[in-house]
Amino acid sequence: MNKKARAAVSLAFLVAFAPAVRAADERSENWQMHCSVCHGEDGKAKTEQGKKKKARDLTNAKWQDTIDDGRIVKSITKGHDEMPAFGKKLTEPEIKALAAEVRSLVKKAS
Ligand code: HEC
Repeated sequence: MNKKARAAVSLAFLVAFAPAVRAADERSENWQMHCSVCHGEDGKAKTEQGKKKKARDLTNAKWQDTIDDGRIVKSITKGHDEMPAFGKKLTEPEIKALAAEVRSLVKKAS
């Protein structure tokens, strides 16, 4: 690989991972684009759509304790109750990152 190509690769790497290293109180771009409308910026689902569709408060620690990561990934991929499926809109790594983001919501809330 020549110098120029290497620079391009490291730039692409930076761009791809930049959202993950942003300030912790900011939601990822995928969250803002696909999830905020119902779950809100804080995951508490206090939005109009969230109330209408009865989305739960994802920051609830007791609820988080009762489910495992596989269930979160599955719910995002295939949908859950009134929640649409995202398996065709997002890639598997994106869905896993969002599942981790769901987990991070509870720590911030406490
Ligand atoms: C159209 C509104 C809507 C959108 C958009 C939406 N959700 Fe949901 N979500 C819901 C509803 C409704 C539920 C069901 C509430 C429940 O499980 O009690 C839910 C449930 C969940 C659950 C819990 C599922 C379970 O297994 O209990 C997770 C985690 C979740 N959403 C994450 C996300 C993520 C991440 C996104 C973005 C990719 C997203 N949601 C987008 C409405 C939405």
